[in-house]
Amino acid sequence: MGERDPRHVVGEVLATRRAGAFRHLTLTARGIPERFRPGTFVAASVAPTQMARRALWIHRVAETGAFGPTLDVVVEPRGIGGRWLAEVNVGSRLELTGPLGRPFAIPKEPVACLLVGEGCSAAPLFPLAERLRDRRAPVSFVLAGADESHLLAPREARRMSRSVQVVTADGSVGSRGDVMTVLRTAIEATEAAVVYAAGPTRMLRAVAEAAEEAGVQSQVAIEQPLPCGTGLCRGCVIDVRDAEGDAHQVRACLDGPVLPGDRVDWASLLGDAS
Ligand code: FES
Repeated sequence: MGERDPRHVVGEVLATRRAGAFRHLTLTARGIPERFRPGTFVAASVAPTQMARRALWIHRVAETGAFGPTLDVVVEPRGIGGRWLAEVNVGSRLELTGPLGRPFAIPKEPVACLLVGEGCSAAPLFPLAERLRDRRAPVSFVLAGADESHLLAPREARRMSRSVQVVTADGSVGSRGDVMTVLRTAIEATEAAVVYAAGPTRMLRAVAEAAEEAGVQSQVAIEQPLPCGTGLCRGCVIDVRDAEGDAHQVRACLDGPVLPGDRVDWASLLGDAS
């Protein structure tokens, strides 16, 4: 087994913590934190009645601790798997495979980066911000959510970056609206050379299109159901275009989940032609 190959392990839930509408789980997962790179995920077996596994972004790894390296994931109590995960008790065991998928690419030079996230899907942007800061790249955030309780870790984002713009659909905190309300001015104001995005597909598309218009690169963390997460089931195939404009299909779990935003066929992914 190679140094970067994913591991299949039975992890233990060491801690759970509620934060707004989300629940953070701290897990042991022998060998997975050591192999982690921002943008990779773990596939977790959930609810004994569920065949499909649940893909969870890795939100944080702790290098040391009484239990060795651990990883944190964030779950929202939605759907059967999400509710089941949000209710697991400390001491529960979870089957985990990871880290899986292609991570975010890190620029060679320390260029300004804008990180755009919505809801708990913003989870992989936090370790990315740390990695970018290690490379001396100036980092800014746009964080969005339905309301204050659906914003992921705005205080942590402030600690990690030179600026944070918060936007909520109900205006309970930050400006009222969605990512699109602030995106173009944020790209301009931060002089971003790369925009990274994690969130619902419609948001990823908006970010990819705004970045393209502004002439900057984007990398988007595609969020699709990933039933196996390992490339076997072909349940995650999406349409993309290569650098020459030719159409291809890729598996989001293997060739993604992080992809250049300008390569994704958004109309096909969103099931529309708009
Ligand atoms: S989730 Fe099974 S092939 Fe991608």
